Amino acid sequence: MNVTVFGTGYVGLVQAAVLAEAGNKVVCIDIDEDKIARLKQGHIPIYEPGLEPMVKESIATGNLSFSTDASVGVEHGELIFIAVGTPPDEDGSADLRHVLTVADTIATHMTVKKYIINKSTVPVGTADKVRNTVEKRLAERGLSDLPFDVISNPEFLKEGSAVADCMRPDRIIVGTSEKESEQKLRHLYAPFNRNHEKILVMDVKSAELTKYAANCMLATKISFMNEMANIADKVGADIEAVRRGIGSDPRVGYQFIYAGIGYGGSCFPKDVKALISSAEQLGLSAEILTAVESRNEQQKHYMAEKILAHYNGDVQGKVFALWGLSFKPNTDDMREAPSRVLMERLWEKGASVRAFDPEAMEECQRIYGDRDGLELCGTKEAALKGADALVVATEWQQFKALDTNEVRTLLKSPVVFDGRNQYEPEEMEEAGFCYYCVGRPD
Ligand code: UGA
Repeated sequence: MNVTVFGTGYVGLVQAAVLAEAGNKVVCIDIDEDKIARLKQGHIPIYEPGLEPMVKESIATGNLSFSTDASVGVEHGELIFIAVGTPPDEDGSADLRHVLTVADTIATHMTVKKYIINKSTVPVGTADKVRNTVEKRLAERGLSDLPFDVISNPEFLKEGSAVADCMRPDRIIVGTSEKESEQKLRHLYAPFNRNHEKILVMDVKSAELTKYAANCMLATKISFMNEMANIADKVGADIEAVRRGIGSDPRVGYQFIYAGIGYGGSCFPKDVKALISSAEQLGLSAEILTAVESRNEQQKHYMAEKILAHYNGDVQGKVFALWGLSFKPNTDDMREAPSRVLMERLWEKGASVRAFDPEAMEECQRIYGDRDGLELCGTKEAALKGADALVVATEWQQFKALDTNEVRTLLKSPVVFDGRNQYEPEEMEEAGFCYYCVGRPD
């Protein structure tokens, strides 16, 4: 099928690459000329396992191309995805400016029926706004009879496994009440819907709300566990035992109940805020989500508080080795990363940080530049050398097997603050470490 994707961010680019590999002719449109120029050469602006070879291959086969010319994109695609950003406004609500600009652009250039598909995470009611925008522009062009549909088809991919998630989705939500639109999307997604039925067709508003409900539910699980971890700390219980104890109940499940130093990234924080804001606009108060967000904000300070308590509030001149900058493993994304709150708290108190991350070093350099108190180290060992303590902020695979002898030798003193519960407290104690973690007796 001929597909156009507006927006070459995480969602747009991955979707485009996966659809192109499946044999569709996909054109990606973005207003960022520099980005498009680089994409044409196969240079991917983000780190995402498997994405670069897939993009390069589809460029070579001619199934994937890039342009800044919106009219080319509108003419090409029978199916047109809107996958542009919806950054939070000052009040936390999703800013729909980019989405509606694309809708207007489509209506400005279309001459035959188009299926307009919302991939961006957008509040309930956005499909109606897109529809109104398109109708208005078509009316101005004297083309009010030109048919089109607006479909909600939210994306559930996770950063770090985006390509795999997109190729093997656990559900494909299609929000439309038009049979023809449903058939088009069934056809498009057929290669990803082989062994069991994953397509769930529903009305547009339910599809839009499903996306927020999914992320908010997961964020709630995490904040709930973080709250339990805080209680475990006070009563001397072990959150890891509690996790296994409740996860074994299939109604709870084992996933997304790991306590830590808070969730980050571009999705959970933004989506929780946006749903709170939507509820408020509807005259409701989102009590649970407000608590989820507030727990997460506090949780990002959890390890900084433990560090300060260990040093009796005085970390002036201390040097901390920091392992992990990205908000989670397998990504270079540092948006809303707990590591940032941690570093900023330590700098505020006069300490400095020697950081290492397998992928996010450039991103950290971009955010903080050559800031005093930050040294970016080439290896995890280099970060340890002469530091007063090790702080773990992200659970990258390569941090999991700790060479305790080496860490003890390289650090000035054997102190580890583990924000992701990567090591066993008893083993760390036996290895001679003063070990702090989250919600476990330390
Ligand atoms: C999230 C959702 O998981 C995807 O389904 C969704 O499509 C995506 O948002 C989106 O809306 O685009 P992502 O933000 O990539 O994906 O990251 P997750 O893997 O969900 O992790 C989010 C955060 O939760 C990370 O900071 C992670 O460290 C934290 N987390 C996760 C915990 O603290 N504990 C857990 O048990 C699980």
